[in-house]
Amino acid sequence: MNKLDTALVSCALKEAGFTLTASVKEADVVLINTCSVREHAEQRVLSHLGHLKHIKKSRPDIIVGVIGCMAQRLGDKLLEHEAVNIVCGPTQIPQIADLLNQALKKNEKCLAVTEKIRTSSEDENQTLERFESAYGIEDKQIPSQAYVRVMRGCNNFCTYCIVPYVRGPESCRPPEVIIEQIKKLASQGVKKVTLLGQTVNSYKYKKGQKTYCLADLLDTASDIKGIKWIRFVTSYPSEEFFGEILQVMADSPKVCNFLHMPAQSGSDKILHAMNRHYTSHWYLELLAKARAAIPGIAIAGDFIVGFPGETEDDFQATVDLLKKARYRNSFIFKYSPRPGTTAEKRLQDTVPPEVKQKRIVKLLAAQEKISDELSRDFLHKEVKVLVEGLSKKSHRNIAGSSNNPQLVGRTETDYIVVFNGPMSLAGQFVKVKIIKTSPLTLFGELI
Ligand code: 5AD
Ligand code: SF4
Repeated sequence: MNKLDTALVSCALKEAGFTLTASVKEADVVLINTCSVREHAEQRVLSHLGHLKHIKKSRPDIIVGVIGCMAQRLGDKLLEHEAVNIVCGPTQIPQIADLLNQALKKNEKCLAVTEKIRTSSEDENQTLERFESAYGIEDKQIPSQAYVRVMRGCNNFCTYCIVPYVRGPESCRPPEVIIEQIKKLASQGVKKVTLLGQTVNSYKYKKGQKTYCLADLLDTASDIKGIKWIRFVTSYPSEEFFGEILQVMADSPKVCNFLHMPAQSGSDKILHAMNRHYTSHWYLELLAKARAAIPGIAIAGDFIVGFPGETEDDFQATVDLLKKARYRNSFIFKYSPRPGTTAEKRLQDTVPPEVKQKRIVKLLAAQEKISDELSRDFLHKEVKVLVEGLSKKSHRNIAGSSNNPQLVGRTETDYIVVFNGPMSLAGQFVKVKIIKTSPLTLFGELI
């Protein structure tokens, strides 16, 4: 979500005459796009702002803007920070160029956030829609791939989560607008699109007699010439539309066999306290359905360890679930109370930091073992890879023509693949034979 917002903003600013610079030293304006999901992310922003405060001592004209969820969450409190000139929430990003020009001219502080985020207006939604349709086709970090938002906000209110309070209520974009955007992206050479939504599988749009669901979007997008891979994140464990989604995944070679469906915990008691509407048994059955429909489907998950009241037994249930689910990878976080959420208001953060730390290490190790076993299945096999470009990290001990640089790409099921090859392959599909594996990365030779 945030990468997409950054891309939209940088594109809008380019059109308004701004240019991107590589370092803060050269910049007249510094914008920080923020996430509020965990406290750690916010602390990093505050430390950046501390650094910018110093820079501003010698360069008082520099304009600093904070955009995104933290801006919405903290509003005028953030504006009080010495370094900050602009605070702009996710709903206000269409105003960003105007806000910057205003701040540059008058050197005044500007606040643009939504007062009652849960009742955001139709007007705001339309403005966001126009912004997204105009700029959602321009700025792509990797030219052959793009993100397309299909819905905004969330209505789920998991008790630990800040998203519904900073991104507002769920709102689905019209299917024809989404499809039009994908067509434009395809005409610019995009081959892989990722459809985005907090609970992307609950996408629903009523038009006349028909209700469109995610499966309809996937199906229609599959007919677009030039688009080769379509994926979607993140799915909430739910039966609604699941059969239809699996069906298009099975039928369309373009829909990637990949599901990111977080469980968050394996303990039914904790799942209930999190306001997640399923049990661990039911969740595992849902995964079994997916695997029956799509043999070889790769499944990724998220977990929170140390949620209030999580006992050793509850944690053990999470380890058991993770092992049974056999995720390709999991994102694992320590619980951090987010101000204003139900968990923060009603539940005590009972699990001590050192216990959270122990549990995260244990769960990560269990996942690493599974990821390693699953990657090993690829050894000596051929995989199809969409090449992204030069590998940022340099990996040693991989064979192949050493005259060529190390490239990096991804498989349909989102494995990172590193191999030597000419830069001209960026944006192309290639076949790679895997010669070495690690839990998350496959190493190979171009065929
Ligand atoms: N503490 C820790 N992790 C959290 N997540 C969301 N809220 C919190 C929180 N308060 C995690 C969930 C979610 C991912 C995006 O971040 O696992 O799926
Ligand atoms: Fe947060 Fe739950 Fe919504 Fe995901 S589904 S964004 S975890 S409230």
